[in-house]
Amino acid sequence: MNKTKNNINVVATGHYVPDQILSNSDLEKIVDTSDEWIFSRTGIKNRRIAKGETTSDLATKAAKNAIESVNYNMEKIELIIVATFTADFLSPAVANLVQAKLGLNHKEIACFDINAACAGFIYALNVASQMLNSGAYKSALVIGAEVISKVVDFTNRDTCVLFGDGAGAIILENTEKTKPAYFFTSSKGDLDKIIYVDSNIHMDGQRVYQFATRAIESSIAKVLTECGLENHEISKIIPHQANLRIIQNAAKNLHFSMDKFFLNIDQYGNTSAASIIIALDEYRKSALTVEDQHIILVGFGAGFTWGSALLTL
Ligand code: ACO
Repeated sequence: MNKTKNNINVVATGHYVPDQILSNSDLEKIVDTSDEWIFSRTGIKNRRIAKGETTSDLATKAAKNAIESVNYNMEKIELIIVATFTADFLSPAVANLVQAKLGLNHKEIACFDINAACAGFIYALNVASQMLNSGAYKSALVIGAEVISKVVDFTNRDTCVLFGDGAGAIILENTEKTKPAYFFTSSKGDLDKIIYVDSNIHMDGQRVYQFATRAIESSIAKVLTECGLENHEISKIIPHQANLRIIQNAAKNLHFSMDKFFLNIDQYGNTSAASIIIALDEYRKSALTVEDQHIILVGFGAGFTWGSALLTL
């Protein structure tokens, strides 16, 4: 199989974010912080917080949004993969719950979760595309979903200002038409606990920042090199929305203008595995036309994990 082409077609995307908005000024009342500090250091203004909704609830609503956007026949779905590090339970997987909540229990569907932190959606997309390309599956629902607020310590200003809740979904089918596509996923195991989650998120922000700036740049560069594409042939880059400064740094060093990057970090903060697919959906729905556009997706997170993808819409 040619590693820079495949037979997957993006049929639909969707997303869902909880209604409740937690603004920087709301956080000023909870911890010793300021709107000025948060916005200048991260680019974040608001984030969404789930109240009484689980990760599988958000995932299902995002999936329904994708399904309804094209009136998709759900009966065709043969594979559900959810990327998350905030599953409802240790077991079963969120994907199993989504299957039930979509009313698809009567169908033979392969369902499982992937935990690769903020790179999780790229990992899930990679796995789904290989399973579709093998010919074993024809239609896949791939979701990134998180309720990070349940593992955020709202007395710790180092982390509580960064994260938000949300979910995004994509429906992929295999097709006869071969399109340029590429998937790259990697990891560097970290035993130093630079970023880890137990009942709360713990993070050495500066060391994560150093890793992230390297990972985003090398992952975008890898897509361009492997696919033989030049900067001007890329319509949009959809990065994991962790920190605006990380993205600005990558833009400068890779000679892309900032308007090549789709940004919504100001509204949602870091939604981990959900961030790239929420942004991709918002981009698809805001663009006048996306057909045949080359889009780079890039993610990085705890593990450390990182990865990138080229999709041709
Ligand atoms: N409000 C006000 N002051 C704060 C806050 C806050 N919310 N948080 C930290 N500070 C203080 C610190 O205590 C420190 O004070 P000191 O100088 O008196 O000790 C000062 O601000 C500077 O702290 P730094 O950590 O140096 O701030 P920095 O500029 O590095 O920004 C940040 C911190 C935003 C966390 C940045 O390091 C970052 O974005 N790191 C990467 C995070 C990331 O990309 N995560 C992705 C993976 S997440 C996942 O996988 C789940």
